[in-house]
Amino acid sequence: MNTNTAVKILLVEDDKVTFRAVQRSLEKQGFSCYGARTLAEAVRILKHEALDLVLCDLMLPDGNGMDLLEIVRMFLMDIPFVAITASEKKSLIRDALRMGANDFLTKPFNLDNLPTVIERNLIREKIHGDYGRPRKVSVLIKTIQALIAALEAKDSYTSGHSMRVARHARLVGNALRLSDDELFTLELSALLHDIGKIGMPDRILNKTSSLEDMEYKTAKEHPVVGSKIVGKIDELQGVSAIIRHHHERFDGTGYPDGLSGQAIPLFARILAIVDAFESIVSKRTYRKPKTTDEALNELEKNAGTQFDPELTALFIKLLRNKNTNLKPQLKIESEMGNAP
Ligand SMILES: [Fe+2]
Repeated sequence: MNTNTAVKILLVEDDKVTFRAVQRSLEKQGFSCYGARTLAEAVRILKHEALDLVLCDLMLPDGNGMDLLEIVRMFLMDIPFVAITASEKKSLIRDALRMGANDFLTKPFNLDNLPTVIERNLIREKIHGDYGRPRKVSVLIKTIQALIAALEAKDSYTSGHSMRVARHARLVGNALRLSDDELFTLELSALLHDIGKIGMPDRILNKTSSLEDMEYKTAKEHPVVGSKIVGKIDELQGVSAIIRHHHERFDGTGYPDGLSGQAIPLFARILAIVDAFESIVSKRTYRKPKTTDEALNELEKNAGTQFDPELTALFIKLLRNKNTNLKPQLKIESEMGNAP
């Protein structure tokens, strides 16, 4: 969980003088500044820190600032990207904006303007990032039901699994006091997290023995495939990012992008825990189900490496508490009841 409230800015700039001046100015304004002089360094920070904004020079010694922007967007990170350019060339600025940069600064720029530029992009992102309530909930729910039915037809194990993952995710969401819209996004992410398995060959999906290298590689593509399927629906952009990252590990050794710690979206960190728990206690053709206690011990053992330790502790506490209602009603169930 992100407890640090200081706005975290990644500053990517190879020119020492500009770097120091901007860094000093940012820190003076109370921003928390992460510095990178190269593209490679910037990518490393991006993978491990929960950033709020990227301020990036377009000309870097080992590449172009646009390459970094492409990576930010590929990771489906909703981080405002402000391009710094030394050139007044309109085409360069136009290209940057067309590729998804939110704003730009032309060098030399007045450092006094920095906080205004940063704040207006943070506010814009907040408005943009707040997907709010989907306009046509009933249509959306029918679409989701159709997607789940398609996956269930292919993989019978997934049917009950997604629903149980959603209920457990909701338990954690309730304990974190998420808003109704956040709970809805978390539930939809849980229901659809394995939707990318639609694209997986049956012989891999149903294989009971261990997978060959190539098969394993194909199986590991399902988060990216799933996020692309869901990303086609405007209202599910937030869900798409969570699906992409539900197999990241807290220590950075997961896939597809090797994000670590709080750089992994919060809801994806929740899903990783409840998905693993559900798999451990479920009956599979190739192994016996384990008891709740055994499963919780396994989660505990992997807290801090595979899973977010704080969220794991919270989930374990909830499941061990005799008063916890283990089958909370899902928001989607009440919406289905209300749908015309
Ligand atoms: Fe998965």
